[in-house]
Amino acid sequence: MSLFWGLLVCLREPQKVKAVAAGAAAVISVAGGLWQISVPAYPDTYRRPSVAYSTISIANGKRLFAQNCAACHGSGGLGDGPAASTLPKPPANLSEPHTALHTAGDMFWWLSHGIPKSGMPGFADVLDEQARWDVINFLRTFSEGFQARLLSPEIVPDHPWLGAPNFFLEDENGAERELKDFREQSNVLLVFPEKSDAMRVKQLRLEQKRFRKERLWAIIVSPDAKLAAGVPNVRRGAQEVRESYDLLSRSTTNRGDPTRLEMGRHSMEFLIDRFGYIRARCLQEEDECGWQNSDELISQVRVLNRESKILPPPAQHVH
Ligand code: HEC
Repeated sequence: MSLFWGLLVCLREPQKVKAVAAGAAAVISVAGGLWQISVPAYPDTYRRPSVAYSTISIANGKRLFAQNCAACHGSGGLGDGPAASTLPKPPANLSEPHTALHTAGDMFWWLSHGIPKSGMPGFADVLDEQARWDVINFLRTFSEGFQARLLSPEIVPDHPWLGAPNFFLEDENGAERELKDFREQSNVLLVFPEKSDAMRVKQLRLEQKRFRKERLWAIIVSPDAKLAAGVPNVRRGAQEVRESYDLLSRSTTNRGDPTRLEMGRHSMEFLIDRFGYIRARCLQEEDECGWQNSDELISQVRVLNRESKILPPPAQHVH
């Protein structure tokens, strides 16, 4: 019934629906940029993603985007591709929050059937279902990267909002785990070191025991076996994990950077809470983080440890 009502409203009063949606989007993005309610518009509006929100999927979606979408939407997703000027309507800028505010199901519908009047083609014949979900997972991370510009080295207590994409890792004994396994158990410090950060990695290795007592696991993402030895790490799949988290490394100082799909960050670290949300970030090039002082880091972790569950797990946290 409500779906039918939504369809009717859409058909009769497209302007009004747009205005209401824009108003709601503005309020929500001010409130912290969460995924929000929307008016059901298509049979797929409430369809759930059938591909998990993981770094493999995001990296694959990024590749598919370059191949299939960049001609119109631009290689940096800004809506400024070479074919843009030939279309009846300008292609959407996909790097901004409104992209993540649509339901995953709506995105699936558009990707499958296109938006005929504006020149956005459907891809049902070109991309199979899994590939379409990969692209949607990528678009989610890419657009959340816009709000992620506001992340800092300081957590904001009781305010989780940015889901951490899942990935596989090996613990220091070589056993396979995934980020999800830490849910309700432990916080995670996800570290992307450069070769020159060997000292930082050594420090993390030495602090391992102390960190775990505080419910913090440090995980190193690097294809370099020597660098990652003796610490939980991502080696296989390091490239995909880096590409995905790189999308969440935008900051307010590079807002206008057209190459923001490839931030090419040097060292970066993310603090992920035990419910799977990224809560703080340290970009070595920009921030004075103080995370190398373990006492400071641990005092933030203790604040996280006192929080209870605020949101459902991030993979479910889409409309
Ligand atoms: C031939 C050009 C063209 C190609 C190729 C194209 N798009 Fe689009 N796309 C558009 C145009 C034009 C719009 C604007 C539609 C509107 O505003 O009504 C659009 C809109 C969208 C929207 C809606 C965004 C919003 O917030 O309203 C999404 C999502 C999207 N495109 C994703 C993609 C993806 C993903 C691909 C590749 C798989 C793709 N597009 C390929 C032209 C294109």
